[in-house]
Amino acid sequence: MNSPFVIVIFGATGDLSQHKLLPALYSLYKNKLLGEKFYIVGFARRGFSDDDYREMLSEELGVQNEPEWVEFTQNVYYQQGLFDEEAGYNALIKKLNGFDEEIGACITRVFYLATPPDNYEMILRHLERTKLSEGCGQGSEQWTRLAIEKPFGKDLDTARSLDMLLSKTFEERQIYRVDHYLGKETMQNMIAFRFANSIFEPVWNKEHIDHVQITWAEKEGVRTRGKFFDGVGILRDVGQNHLLQMLATVAMEQPNGFFKEGVREARVNAIKALRCPTPSDVRELVVRGQYAGYRNEPNVDLQSQTETFFAAKLFVDTPRFAGVPFYLRAGKKMEQEVMEMKIVFKQTCHILFKEYGCPEVGNVLTIRIQPNEGITMRVIAKKPGNSLSLDTVDMRFSYHQTFGGHGADAYEKILLDIIHGDQMLFNRSDELESSWHLISNILQGWEKEKGEIATYAEGTWGPASANQLLEQDGRKWLS
Ligand code: BG6
Repeated sequence: MNSPFVIVIFGATGDLSQHKLLPALYSLYKNKLLGEKFYIVGFARRGFSDDDYREMLSEELGVQNEPEWVEFTQNVYYQQGLFDEEAGYNALIKKLNGFDEEIGACITRVFYLATPPDNYEMILRHLERTKLSEGCGQGSEQWTRLAIEKPFGKDLDTARSLDMLLSKTFEERQIYRVDHYLGKETMQNMIAFRFANSIFEPVWNKEHIDHVQITWAEKEGVRTRGKFFDGVGILRDVGQNHLLQMLATVAMEQPNGFFKEGVREARVNAIKALRCPTPSDVRELVVRGQYAGYRNEPNVDLQSQTETFFAAKLFVDTPRFAGVPFYLRAGKKMEQEVMEMKIVFKQTCHILFKEYGCPEVGNVLTIRIQPNEGITMRVIAKKPGNSLSLDTVDMRFSYHQTFGGHGADAYEKILLDIIHGDQMLFNRSDELESSWHLISNILQGWEKEKGEIATYAEGTWGPASANQLLEQDGRKWLS
């Protein structure tokens, strides 16, 4: 059972809070996972009372008539404040001290930065200046935790300076750098799948794997997030984090043990082993594009050169994967909604069956993050009949069919781990440093390129150059 805690959400009226954090907290509450006593405080600019905030949330979540919601909101409070003015923080101190008094102890305080990243520095400085970062006035930082959302910086330099600021105010063991993809069921399953089954490890290497494909495709465009997205682009938005984490689950070595630092170390090492394309390699190894209607989206610059699609060919320089290409692609307004990894094994069918006609691609292991979470193994089989003819068939494992439901939402897992103080699924500082190193090199390469960004039709798989990236190696995208 949890000890009492309070979670303060900065940016309480924003998209992330309303659509991810509060629904996840409510679901944890319904599943009785938040413990006997907890407090949720929304901190934002609007002049709301507690009741106004509760009402706004209940409309947003569409749960007005649920009796459990009414119970849940008894634990939800609001603190009006500007991020750059001390007054709001001082009022917050009083509120938090009041909770401590009610409980009769210093309870764990979690500060969750769910604001646009431009505000991080300001909030961190105020948390330090007002000593909120130190917990309930005892100078004992063990009572506080800081959760910070991506994008963590804009490039290597800004990520480093944000990290320095963080480490001035909090110790590493207090910092939870959130990449919610690490909380997704199928991502968590990767360690079990790879290392609890003895059949995969012997073939999980360059001797047997031809290449790896990682696809992150959304059918949606930027919707209401044009202003944020236009200053960021898809490489920073999901490439630097979600896609590299997907890659790390495939590329990592077996952790020393299933404990926090064992797993984090294995993940970090995979990302550190990524070969960084020099800015001049970028033209050859990375492509980008923008969907046709992007510049007409609300709050997007009419001349915008921001990419809504990228594809890259990367290498992981470890003995296990030396020379094996990892092809990554991510895009908005894609033909299909799919986030998955495909491990494409070397084709050996022709050794015995050349004259009978082998399928173009043989064994493919697909790990589907969403939708339809699951794992599919494609094998070659003889088609029934008197003559020998071969085809591929899929052996499927579906989370939904096997276990029912889709497992916990990623944000439920993320929040629960923060509340429990478990950092395994959160980024370490050196992990971000390595990923930004790679991404910054790509960004510098792009800066040197002249001319307009290529566009692609909405509802397709991106610009033609993304196909050429594989075709020039005699391969093709399989999704
Ligand atoms: C976020 C990105 O991190 O992930 C969004 O900023 C993206 O652009 C979202 O839409 C996708 O998350 P999920 O959990 O719906 O796959």
